[in-house]
Parts: sequence; C-alpha cells; structure tokens
Amino acid sequence: MNVHWSLARSAAGVLALVAGVAFTSAAWAQGEWKAPAEAKSVKNPITKFDAKEKNEAKKVVETNCVPCHGPSGKGDGPAAAALPTKQADWTSEKVQKQTDGEIFWKMSNGRGAMPPWKSLSEKERWELVSYIRALKK
Ligand code: HEC
Repeated sequence: MNVHWSLARSAAGVLALVAGVAFTSAAWAQGEWKAPAEAKSVKNPITKFDAKEKNEAKKVVETNCVPCHGPSGKGDGPAAAALPTKQADWTSEKVQKQTDGEIFWKMSNGRGAMPPWKSLSEKERWELVSYIRALKK
C-alpha cells in the first residue's frame, strides 16, 4: 500500500513537472506581442534627446540589453542563440512602426525571455525608447 502510494505520488509529480514544462514552453511560443490599447497613446515625455542623453541611454543599453539584443539592437547579442524566442530587432519595421507608448509598455512588462525593466526608472525607460527610435536613422 505504502509503495503504491509513493509510486502514485511520484507519477503525479512527474506529470506535474511535464505539464509545467509544457505550459512554460507554450508561454514562450506566444504569437504576436501586442501592447494594450491604452498603452498606445501614452506620450514620450522626453523632449530633449541630444548627445548627452543618447550617451546615457547607450550606457544603460550596454549594461542591460546588449547580451540579447546585440550592440546595434539588431538582436544579435551573444545570448541570442540560447534564447527560446527570437528577440526583436529594434531597427526592424515591426518595432519601429509601434508608438513610443507601446515600446515603453513592452519594455516595462516584458514577456517570456524578455525581462520586465521596471528596475530602470521611467525616465531611463523613455530614454531607451528614444534611443531605439534614433537607431532607425
Ligand atoms: C535575456 C535577454 C533579453 C534582454 C537582456 C533584453 N531583452 Fe528585450 N527582448 C528579448 C526577447 C526574447 C524579446 C522578444 C519577446 C517576445 O516577442 O516574446 C524582446 C523584445 C523586446 C522588445 C519588444 C519588441 C517588439 O515589439 O517585439 C523591446 C522594445 C525590447 N525587447 C527592449 C529591451 C530593452 C530596452 C532591454 C534593456 C533594458 C532589453 N530588451 C533587454 C530578450 C531580451
């Protein structure tokens, strides 16, 4: 009886583990990532983004984003190959066609392998949005 129970339990344990892994990979494999409608119209409060601000943003990017997004933001960082989801190329139309508010929201909330960057101040995050924008040119 005892043996039976522990077997049953470990089987349940394994099942839970498998289900957990399946759930996690389902979460990784989400489709298009959309920011909520209310995020779309939020305006970027950064009005001045000159060499000084750009340099500050660049430092934040180098510390936090380059391992995955790569030095040019094209998604070719050294950790890229190990990630289960492809990280966005910041210079792509897919990213650039979004509003500042949408990019800010995604940066703040993250998804899957993309961490939520609430550890950075709002100002820093908005400067990163401006930085990503400036890559387009
Ligand atoms: C651990 C790797 C990793 C790091 C570090 C990282 N990202 Fe990401 N990022 C991702 C992945 C993966 C995605 C794609 C997520 C998805 O589509 O589910 C992503 C997506 C994004 C997007 C969304 C683009 C879109 O519309 O699809 C933005 C914006 C972004 N990252 C900005 C940043 C910024 C800014 C930093 C640094 C502060 C950063 N990321 C750091 C992995 C990373």
